[in-house]
Amino acid sequence: MPFKLNATHSLTSDMVSESVLAIGDNAARQKLARRMSWAHWLTVVHPKAYVHDSVRLGPGTVVFAGVVVQPDAQIGAHCIINTGTTVDHGCVIGDFCHLAPGCNIGGSVTLAEGVLMGIGSVAIPSVSVGAWTAVGAAAAVASDLPARVLAVGAPARVLRKLEP
Ligand SMILES: CC(C)(COP(=O)(O)OP(=O)(O)OC[C@H]1O[C@@H](n2cnc3c(N)ncnc32)[C@H](O)[C@@H]1OP(=O)(O)O)[C@@H](O)C(=O)NCCC(=O)NCCS
Repeated sequence: MPFKLNATHSLTSDMVSESVLAIGDNAARQKLARRMSWAHWLTVVHPKAYVHDSVRLGPGTVVFAGVVVQPDAQIGAHCIINTGTTVDHGCVIGDFCHLAPGCNIGGSVTLAEGVLMGIGSVAIPSVSVGAWTAVGAAAAVASDLPARVLAVGAPARVLRKLEP
């Protein structure tokens, strides 16, 4: 049965053991995952997603309906691969990333830890996005982006730096 957390709760292993974290904010998900060090993290794939047999999915990662993940992609821990997103061959997706609905990630793209790819955004093959960077809705990442920036547009340009 789902366990609903409020501000007064202190989670313990008596309340919940096999878990995934359904929190879209990457930093919040990381914070809670660290607090729940006793948890057994599930990896959940919707039956109507296609994930090639060679793909590695980390613990706590959730793959939504309509997703396609192509051969030899690696997806880290506690990622959200949201509805209808595609991740092409050989991508490396770090821990705590969120690929919002309808993203298209080209082959051999690298997303470091904590990257948000906004709804409907794309990344052309072989680009890299630095840790904890957020890419805006409908953006097109056409060249490498540094860590901890907000980037928008097509091609994606840095709008501002993000605080740690
Ligand atoms: C990029 C984003 C995070 C910026 O949010 P923000 O920091 O609140 O920025 P603002 O709304 O103040 O916008 C700042 C400027 O960027 C522009 N902008 C914002 N989002 C943009 C986008 N996706 N593409 C192009 N321009 C964008 C705004 O028009 C504004 O321009 P202006 O200064 O000329 O008026 C947000 O707009 C966005 O795209 N979020 C995607 C969220 C998402 O997909 N979440 C996953 C849900 S499952």
